[in-house]
Amino acid sequence: MAAAAIRSGDVVAFPTETVYGLGADALNPDAVAKIFKAKGRPQNNPLIIHIHDVSEMEKYAYPTELAYKLAEAFWPGPFTMILPKKECIPNAVSAGLDTVAIRLPSDPVARKLIKLSGTAIAAPSANISGSPSPTRAGHVLHDYQGTDKIAGIIDGGPCEFGVESTVLSLTENPPMLLRPGSITPEEIMRYIPDLTLSEAVKNKLPDGAKAESPGMLHRHYAPIAETEGVKGSSVRAAVYINENIINSGKKCGVMCFDGEEKLYLSSAIVMSYGKESVPEDRAAKMFDVLRQLDLLGLEKIFVRIEDDGGVGLAVFNRLLRACEFNITDADPMPAVFGVTGLSGAGKTTLCDILEERGYDHIDTDSISRYTLDMGKDELVSRFGNEILACDGSIDRKILASKAFASPEGTADLNKITHKYIMKEVVRRLSENRVDNKISLVDGAALIEAEAHKLCDVLITVAAGYDTRLERIISRDRLSVEQAEKRLAAQRPYALILKETDFVFENETADGYGKELDRLSEFLAKYIK
Ligand code: TXA
Ligand code: MG
Repeated sequence: MAAAAIRSGDVVAFPTETVYGLGADALNPDAVAKIFKAKGRPQNNPLIIHIHDVSEMEKYAYPTELAYKLAEAFWPGPFTMILPKKECIPNAVSAGLDTVAIRLPSDPVARKLIKLSGTAIAAPSANISGSPSPTRAGHVLHDYQGTDKIAGIIDGGPCEFGVESTVLSLTENPPMLLRPGSITPEEIMRYIPDLTLSEAVKNKLPDGAKAESPGMLHRHYAPIAETEGVKGSSVRAAVYINENIINSGKKCGVMCFDGEEKLYLSSAIVMSYGKESVPEDRAAKMFDVLRQLDLLGLEKIFVRIEDDGGVGLAVFNRLLRACEFNITDADPMPAVFGVTGLSGAGKTTLCDILEERGYDHIDTDSISRYTLDMGKDELVSRFGNEILACDGSIDRKILASKAFASPEGTADLNKITHKYIMKEVVRRLSENRVDNKISLVDGAALIEAEAHKLCDVLITVAAGYDTRLERIISRDRLSVEQAEKRLAAQRPYALILKETDFVFENETADGYGKELDRLSEFLAKYIK
């Protein structure tokens, strides 16, 4: 039925091993025009024709000996060659060029459809122009549902490779890679050692520039949400992204590498798209995950990107365009150190020493004092008017007695106050990022507020129970009973240790210098 539709000049969506295509009879200009109309594709962007057998190549183009050699090596498969075209190829397909792009797909459904249609099938990726390519029938349905733009969709399940074919021009001398794909430059160079890479593969061409492949000029693969690509190590990238999520106040999503999920704030929508070390994995999932995130109505999507070789080049090339070349490298940014510890462990002393090294000391305990009134309305609506003093400001003592009376009250108080504390912390962090200054975020409740996710490393100052008890008794002039009560109310130490990168043992004054040396050595690798 689908083949009959193609023969009668209709447009059909069908699976290939790369992405779903929107096919029509390549020799029928009216049918081809329907593809452009359905996709909203710019007229100057030519189409690839799909054949079912190598012998068909010479019907539509003038293949060279090299073309046959490459066909033998890479066909059927995710590989497209640009060759001088024959007369029979209408201008509608070639967009007025004297060349044509040809591909012999490996997907059995695609090949059967082409064969039964008795013609070559011109097919771009089946997405609406500019949006992420479809790698599942459901993606195509999403783009065309409720329209009469296409006659039907053949559902062949998820595509094997997930990224469009490699496009190689044999009409350039030496041959030029126009679009990277699952057949890698390294593989092609076995046949073409002097292969060149089109400038457009990794770079944004200036306005008005002529691209060897017109498709590389257009805004492409992009979600509706504003999208930013972030390069760099896992933790550094997450620190930068988390800071921006809070700072922007926007509803954000993150498309990260497998295993990075836990580095992100719980307020963000986080989806992984594959292992950083396996680009084939990322290629197969990137469009699906981009589409899933975009369905959530996010205002901004951060995408983890890696500029690597092999199939990674294809992923990088698509994501550069999905982000409209808005790429940030998080690695060179100044470090953020977090310091925490239980009462009496000696956090403040250590922070004072580190502050003298020129780090900006962001003390969340003092921030919590001056940001308390920012949450006044929310606090009053949760805990009542009684928390207000005569002058209308919040009475901290009354608030504390009401909030700490129950675990729910404590949780609600934290939820409200942490929001304003974090806003102030990230304001300082982004200032320091611009000024290239190292930040030192200090607080007893860093983990509860998720502030440790804004830090490259978390340092925990530690001392035994008896030592801490003694210290707070003499420091805060408490009775033994009061001090014991204070320490009993502390968060579980195991929870802190789980997130800690460096434990600073502060048991005795004698050992302090040695610990400081050990810490300096540890921090050195984060100081650029
Ligand atoms: O994997 C694929 O190639 C998929 C499936 C459906 O086969 N098709 C696909 O088509 O990705 P499309 O139209 O989305 O991308 C074709 C690319 C565009 O960048 C276009 O500019 C380029 O190939 N192209 C087509 N004909 C060309 C020509 N004669 N000269 C230079 N570039 C050409
Ligand atoms: Mg496309």
